[in-house]
Amino acid sequence: MRHVIQQQVQVDFLYPCIFSENVFHVDCPDVWEVLTKGRGAEQRSRVLVVVDQAVAALHTDFEQKLAAYFAHHGDRVVLVAAPVIVPGGEEVKNDPQYVEQVEALVNRYALDRHSYIFAVGGGAVLDMVGYAAAICHRGIRLIRFPTTVLAQNDSGVGVKNGINAFGKKNFLGTFAPPYAVINDFSFLPTLDDRDWRGGISEAIKVALLKDADFFVFLEEHAEHLAARDMDAMKQLIIRCAELHLQHIATSGDPFEAGTSRPLDFGHWAAHKLEQISYFRIRHGEAVALGLALDATYSMLNGMLEEAAWERILRVFVAMGLRVFAPEMLQHHAGQQLVLLQGLEEFREHLGGELTIMLLEDIGRGVETHFMDEALVVQSLEVLQGWAEKRLKS
Ligand SMILES: NC(=O)c1ccc[n+]([C@@H]2O[C@H](COP(=O)([O-])OP(=O)(O)OC[C@H]3O[C@@H](n4cnc5c(N)ncnc54)[C@H](O)[C@@H]3O)[C@@H](O)[C@H]2O)c1
Ligand SMILES: [Zn+2]
Repeated sequence: MRHVIQQQVQVDFLYPCIFSENVFHVDCPDVWEVLTKGRGAEQRSRVLVVVDQAVAALHTDFEQKLAAYFAHHGDRVVLVAAPVIVPGGEEVKNDPQYVEQVEALVNRYALDRHSYIFAVGGGAVLDMVGYAAAICHRGIRLIRFPTTVLAQNDSGVGVKNGINAFGKKNFLGTFAPPYAVINDFSFLPTLDDRDWRGGISEAIKVALLKDADFFVFLEEHAEHLAARDMDAMKQLIIRCAELHLQHIATSGDPFEAGTSRPLDFGHWAAHKLEQISYFRIRHGEAVALGLALDATYSMLNGMLEEAAWERILRVFVAMGLRVFAPEMLQHHAGQQLVLLQGLEEFREHLGGELTIMLLEDIGRGVETHFMDEALVVQSLEVLQGWAEKRLKS
């Protein structure tokens, strides 16, 4: 006998992505509203806070503010321990001990599915903590507090988390929407210049893919953004996050079950460059290089006009982002370019047919299933030539 039940499960996820400032000030309503929404007054929630080392070191009043905040709201929320400090950057995703540390704390402090983990930090810390939160008890409520430009406008607002394994980025991870995202602009002034600029790449990415007007905004404000103008940055972050969130909500594939990953435009090369450089090239910087490469490829294969290509390269340079790095030309002994392996690794991560995003115009991305390796090599030469000419002039 054969019997089949077709099971359909529909799940809606609704989470707020808040943009604010000084959210751990006792009078700020943002965290409070998220924690108390839909709960009876009798419930007291347990909260574990994991914080990026750089944030803890540079925002010296963070721990004190947090303690005051929880003391003030002690009838409704309990901070189970002092904030747990973990290294920032890729180190926290490369070494599995940090996920284990969070798992052990969840166990020790008896957090359950109605408890909260606050992840405070850059994209790497958020990815690691998000993964740990997703697998403990099959999901503890995660509230992300992104503290870098990139985490606020891109990596911290979406539904993915993960850590690296076997030398591959995000090899372990889950799709797990957060309970809430609270973007606090007051964390950003302590970023170093590289991380300030790095996050701008993801904004250029979505602008190129989806929003020509936003690209013009970036061109017009490039000087201010490079000079760390906070008002321009706030506008950039909100628009960029909005475009990412709209895509996740409306693309019909929030958990990337298909072969397409439009938001990973430029990322096949970017992920490989991070790895080749042992993460000396940071994610946002690598994305700028990857976007410049795929824009050049789009121009050389006749899809993108040369004038648009020039505008794209110029906006990166105006923001202080490199469009070419020597690591892009690394070869295996006498053989293939190492970078090209990134194509197969990118395909393998998602499965199915290779799908790469290219550009038809500023604001209009288009997918392809084939990358001509000789044209990639030629694109690198053109890009190197353009960057060198630019340096001399
Ligand atoms: N989950 C996703 O959908 C997604 C999307 C894109 C990128 N990512 C991941 O995000 C990571 C990159 O994130 P990132 O660009 O935020 O970098 P990062 O997390 O590596 O942080 C960069 C550096 O900034 C420090 N830092 C954090 N906040 C700071 C602050 N306020 N002041 C000073 N220093 C601060 C960190 O300690 C670190 O040294 C990568 O691992 C990438 O794979 C994830
Ligand atoms: Zn990215």
